[in-house]
Amino acid sequence: MDRPDVPSGSTAPQGSRDHPTFQEVYPGFPEPQFEPLTFTRRSPDETLARARAFYEEMQTRRTTRHFSRDAVPREVIEWAVLSAGTAPSGAHRQPWRFVAVQDPDLKARIREAVEAEEYRTYTARMTDEWRSALAALGTDYVKEHLTDAPWVVVVFREKYGLRNDGTTYKNYYTVESVSMAVGLFLAAIHHAGLTTLTHTPNPMGYLSELLGRPRNEEPLIVMPVGYPAPDAHVPKLSRKPLAEIFQVDLGPSGQ
Ligand SMILES: Cc1cc2nc3c(=O)[nH]c(=O)nc-3n(C[C@H](O)[C@H](O)[C@H](O)COP(=O)(O)O)c2cc1C
Repeated sequence: MDRPDVPSGSTAPQGSRDHPTFQEVYPGFPEPQFEPLTFTRRSPDETLARARAFYEEMQTRRTTRHFSRDAVPREVIEWAVLSAGTAPSGAHRQPWRFVAVQDPDLKARIREAVEAEEYRTYTARMTDEWRSALAALGTDYVKEHLTDAPWVVVVFREKYGLRNDGTTYKNYYTVESVSMAVGLFLAAIHHAGLTTLTHTPNPMGYLSELLGRPRNEEPLIVMPVGYPAPDAHVPKLSRKPLAEIFQVDLGPSGQ
């Protein structure tokens, strides 16, 4: 019988802090295995210094559109992808696939397909509002970075899982999860001393075909990776100050 002070239906019981048992929540499922958390607790001073140092490193990251053709060892890309793969993901489905392209012919085919799509975007699809947003960046449909950069990394999002027998299963929060992995990849590439461009030449279905990816995967981001060209330049931009991106409790800004 319902307690008189607890509304029936789907609301959680109020006033009790006891966890339900595992079997109450997951009837019939095997108990999960746990292990102690590995964690280094640092002093408040060191914590602050590290937080600040990380910001100081990240605030020098810039999207780069001019790449040197200098080689980058595959192992560097692999470490960055491993860092990306540490991202959290909905139900730990890890719904990401990083396809790293170094083959010059394949990069050329990607560039050709991307430029065809981007040409349509810049000459036909782009609304006035969109054009005015991009004007400050000065980008166009010529994407030489796709053949200049030693690596082009295409990140695929596994919309749903696909078993070998062709049956499927649901994945959770895939856009959020893969975007977090991409964020970590950007940080790893920057930390390693390289640069990249977060590029979205939409619609990107042709990349699945060119890179032989299955139907459950969808391309999300294309990232040339390498060293900047000696004459690389970037648009002058400013980043929002803390007060515009941060709020504490109900205060109007992060003070
Ligand atoms: C989801 C996403 C899509 C983007 N798409 C493009 C793109 O198609 N072409 C491009 O040149 N830059 C693209 N960018 C890069 C942004 O223009 C860039 O991050 C922004 O101008 C800020 O510059 P910064 O990264 O140097 O701080 C994209 C960035 C994000 C996060």
